[in-house]
Amino acid sequence: MDLPHGDDRTKKFVSCVGLITSNGPYGDNIMACEWIHQVSYSPGIMMISVKTSRASYENIKQSKEFGISIASTEQNTLSSLSGGSSAKVIDKINALKELGYKFYKAKKINVLMVEDSALNIECKLMKEVVLGDYVLFLGEIIETKLGEKEPLAYHGGKYWKLENTIPKPEPEKLANLSKVLEKYRKKK
Ligand SMILES: Cc1cc2nc3c(=O)[nH]c(=O)nc-3n(C[C@H](O)[C@H](O)[C@H](O)COP(=O)(O)O)c2cc1C
Repeated sequence: MDLPHGDDRTKKFVSCVGLITSNGPYGDNIMACEWIHQVSYSPGIMMISVKTSRASYENIKQSKEFGISIASTEQNTLSSLSGGSSAKVIDKINALKELGYKFYKAKKINVLMVEDSALNIECKLMKEVVLGDYVLFLGEIIETKLGEKEPLAYHGGKYWKLENTIPKPEPEKLANLSKVLEKYRKKK
């Protein structure tokens, strides 16, 4: 079955926003991506899911590398600008530079990275998996730069700032829960 864009059911997911940078037939580019996650620790592997109609798709397919700058809580406008137009019609990088956004040259790949993000990740493309109307790019992490800012959250089509943690159960309640788990420990 389909689960279309904007459907109420898709509003139950919470994600980061990856500012995906690439360089290829469309030149230096940036796009916003909510379908992004770390999927392996050793080696570190990132996945991003990109629609084949994106200029970024063509760039990554040809260059076989991409940058991910995890947007900070101060980069919501940058995310909207990066996700609001295509490099097929607008030179977003130069427009963003004129608007005051700063980029630096990635250390190990030939792309620009966003300054002041929560985290910058440089990836070499490992694998491309066609999934429905999107393509999953799996990238090996080859360089990172840890920023000081907090990550921006994306949920229900809106940007959020993570502030309140949910407290753990009281020790007594935890002890009780453990007792029940012990009762169901499987015999070897
Ligand atoms: C918050 C946000 C999240 C997005 N997530 C994705 C995504 O996960 N995958 C995708 O292909 N497009 C996503 N988009 C849409 C692209 O960013 C948008 O189509 C962009 O214009 C593509 O740029 P390009 O053609 O220059 O690559 C998202 C847009 C926004 C604003």
